[in-house]
Amino acid sequence: MVFCAAFTPYTAMTQTATPSSTFMPWTDSLHTGDARMDETHQEFVDMINQILATPEDQQLPVYKAFLNHTVEHFAQEERWMLATGFSADNCHAEHHATILETMRVVEAHYLDSDKTIITRMAEALAEWFPGHANSMDAGLAAHLKSVGFDSVTETLADPSAIKNVTMSGCGSVSCS
Ligand SMILES: [Fe+2]
Ligand SMILES: [Fe+2]
Repeated sequence: MVFCAAFTPYTAMTQTATPSSTFMPWTDSLHTGDARMDETHQEFVDMINQILATPEDQQLPVYKAFLNHTVEHFAQEERWMLATGFSADNCHAEHHATILETMRVVEAHYLDSDKTIITRMAEALAEWFPGHANSMDAGLAAHLKSVGFDSVTETLADPSAIKNVTMSGCGSVSCS
């Protein structure tokens, strides 16, 4: 399985997780500065916990719903990026694509024979997500605010604010 640089399997908590526990709590440290983005992220976290509370032989439908939600989650951010001056091939979007590709491979392996792989993927995403939310997503949220983009209505207060802005990076944060 190919993981991007900041995305590695997480194992430290697997021995303490139980089906009824909340594996990944929602905390203030996950806030990005954009309420709509945070709402989507809270759903993402809830779905990770839902997967980990589900017996492994019953995880497929929950995982499929999570994958569909993640497709929409990432598409929403990429739509906002394009609306505010990012180029389509920016590194934040490339990062999303790597995650989605890995998630689809996990579904295929689960269907093939590996009934523990969805649990391992959910644990890995729980480890990956805070870093992504605090860097690329928080950077995007700060950028949206700086150009006057309303993420609820998906409109710019002043479209001229993004004139001559074309970014291939991640806004205020490094892609490395
Ligand atoms: Fe996000
Ligand atoms: Fe993101």
